[in-house]
Amino acid sequence: MHIIDIITKKRDGGILTAEEIKFFIEGYTKGRIPDYQISALLMAIYFKGMTNEEATNLALFMRDSGDIFNLDSIEGVKVDKHSTGGVGDKVTLVLGPLLAYHGAKVAKMSGRGLGHTGGTVDKLESIPGYQVELSVEDFKKQVSEIGLAIVGQSGDVAPADKKLYALRDVTATVDSIPLIAASIMSKKLASGADAICLDVKVGHGAFMKTVEEATNLAELMVNIGKLAGKKMTAILTGMDEPLGHKIGNGLEVYEAIETLSGKGPKDLVDVTVEIGAHLLIQSKIESSFEVAKEKLHNTLDNGLALNKFRELIVAQHGDPSIIERKEELLSNKTVEFKSTENGYIETIDALKIGVAASRLGAGRETKEDVIDLFVGIDLHKKIGDRVQKGDVIATLYVNEKGVDEALALMKQAVNVGPNKLSIDLIKKTIQ
Ligand code: URA
Repeated sequence: MHIIDIITKKRDGGILTAEEIKFFIEGYTKGRIPDYQISALLMAIYFKGMTNEEATNLALFMRDSGDIFNLDSIEGVKVDKHSTGGVGDKVTLVLGPLLAYHGAKVAKMSGRGLGHTGGTVDKLESIPGYQVELSVEDFKKQVSEIGLAIVGQSGDVAPADKKLYALRDVTATVDSIPLIAASIMSKKLASGADAICLDVKVGHGAFMKTVEEATNLAELMVNIGKLAGKKMTAILTGMDEPLGHKIGNGLEVYEAIETLSGKGPKDLVDVTVEIGAHLLIQSKIESSFEVAKEKLHNTLDNGLALNKFRELIVAQHGDPSIIERKEELLSNKTVEFKSTENGYIETIDALKIGVAASRLGAGRETKEDVIDLFVGIDLHKKIGDRVQKGDVIATLYVNEKGVDEALALMKQAVNVGPNKLSIDLIKKTIQ
């Protein structure tokens, strides 16, 4: 087999066989095929697309390029969720304890943030002492004992994806639905859960700008997961404004604690409960979706899952008194962003808000950047809220960096106008 024939076939719109996909994935991962030929192939895939079967094979061979976790020793259905990346998305921090409280087994490997989207691992590191690295044995033991572990990616998961993603990043081939689907699913399939709920974000702040594109991506990922023997659900949720009020690492842990105490913002609660209900059904803990949702709402309203969050922190060597001292998760230097007009908030561009938080130091521009865990943005107003001139729209928790730039971005991101708009948050479910 020759790589040039594979490139030619895809360039001309052909369908690659499983053997051809295996050949280029293995050849690239092991350094036998150079970047320039894989770049050409990626561009051909970008323009000609892939069938479901090709994308599934791509995901499976990328999964097989590294470690695959076996969680069979943990009793019950192991559940996982994945978000395609949003701003202010702290769902995992609330959902994990909530599901574990209801008896589910949540085995979650999370990532770090890059660019305008945050990462759960960085957020958890704002808790003093919290260890994001556990051995695989300790990870499994913890999920068995308390129903929940949230750790960083350990081992060498899908190295083919790591290499391909880095190449896609510099060859303008990230935005390809089959490549995104195979990339995400290769890692999800390697992490060993039995049931996976995907939260595919749609809107300004997301990879997918339209419901149509997001539907195609979600359907493809659900198909790939099912073909690999997993129970799959995807929901499409809006990312036209950040989720919840707080953006930034410690700030998001703060908001997760509030949400687990029954004082969470409606949009964050609704997305968490929706994903949670799907995973309780797939775990066979509940049989009615509506009943599952009602129970999850009640648990949050009554603060019943907060203790699970405490157990998680203790199990991962963190200091649980942060729950009572949550003000320490916020920088003590603040700047206010005020309205210059009367009217309603019409837009809060999630992408720009994410970039603003990143400029304050909450995010990384490159993998090597050190982030400031206690800076970020607290949006007091959301789309549809009334504001008067002089009202504080947001408080910026700041340190030394980026205040003027962040304020300028906030100004571009937030629009006040005469229209009271409402947002359609949960747009679609794909199973
Ligand atoms: N996230 C991933 O893991 N891969 C992609 O290709 C895009 C988003």
